Amino acid sequence: MDHYAVIGHPIGHSKSPQIHTLFARQTGQEMVYEAVLAPEDDFPGTVRRLVDAGYRGFSVTVPFKHEAFELADTLTDRARRAGAVNTLTVTADGLDGDNTDGLGLVADLKRQPTPLAGSRILLLGAGGAVRGVLAPLLAEGPARLHIANRTAAKAQDLARDFADLGPVSGSGLEALAGESHDLIINGTAAGLSDETPPLPAGLLAPGAGCYDMMYGDTPTAFVRWGDAQGAAWTRDGLGMLVEQAAEAFAIWRGQRPQTDPVMEALRPRS
Ligand code: ATR
Repeated sequence: MDHYAVIGHPIGHSKSPQIHTLFARQTGQEMVYEAVLAPEDDFPGTVRRLVDAGYRGFSVTVPFKHEAFELADTLTDRARRAGAVNTLTVTADGLDGDNTDGLGLVADLKRQPTPLAGSRILLLGAGGAVRGVLAPLLAEGPARLHIANRTAAKAQDLARDFADLGPVSGSGLEALAGESHDLIINGTAAGLSDETPPLPAGLLAPGAGCYDMMYGDTPTAFVRWGDAQGAAWTRDGLGMLVEQAAEAFAIWRGQRPQTDPVMEALRPRS
């Protein structure tokens, strides 16, 4: 039986074991997938022990995605561009590092009513989570992708790093007043304390949607903000989680599972 794990700190609330178990059942694959808590100061040692025990691959979550990037022996282009790894695969030569987060976000956004091509997109935050999704979002051909962050310089630096890929700009949050967007994506960590970044009212164009890269069993702070602002649609990041997992599963098992039934099974009933 092949073994896989998601590694994080904390890890108790991870939905990844449930997601991969549903994928395995759906595709008839013989595998076990579990959650592993790594000490904050010993991600490499944890990976080494699991590799020695015969594990075949790992999902990597907060706060270890940068360490996984450093640990990988080879990197895909998208992982290199993201500066982070969320999927490690054990091979005969070592550890292959990939990043499926951006693809996961784009796949779930394509399920929503707002098309990405030609849209004015506002991306909130300028940390690792946002860096990881910039290239796949720009590849969809938005009219404009604006990064706004509490610390303006970090948004401007990110925009500079990705300027070769499309029309991307950066600013602080206060500079947003008077702007209008078709899609606002929250990639800040503010939701961890049930907050939203301080945003001016009136940012949403008619028909605009709000997408939170975080998810929760109850509506996230940013989803509630979008609803209060009159967004045409709001969505949390559960779909992104399931889509990035499907891509990891495909890398490991050579078979891409269907995501809709898994999303259906995970979505809390209201
Ligand atoms: P991650 O890897 O999850 O992106 P990170 O690199 O620590 O984590 O980045 C967290 C992001 O959330 C940053 O953009 C941070 O803003 P700063 O760069 O100004 O620190 C943003 N953030 C965190 N808490 C926030 C809050 N309460 N309001 C607004 N932005 C917040």
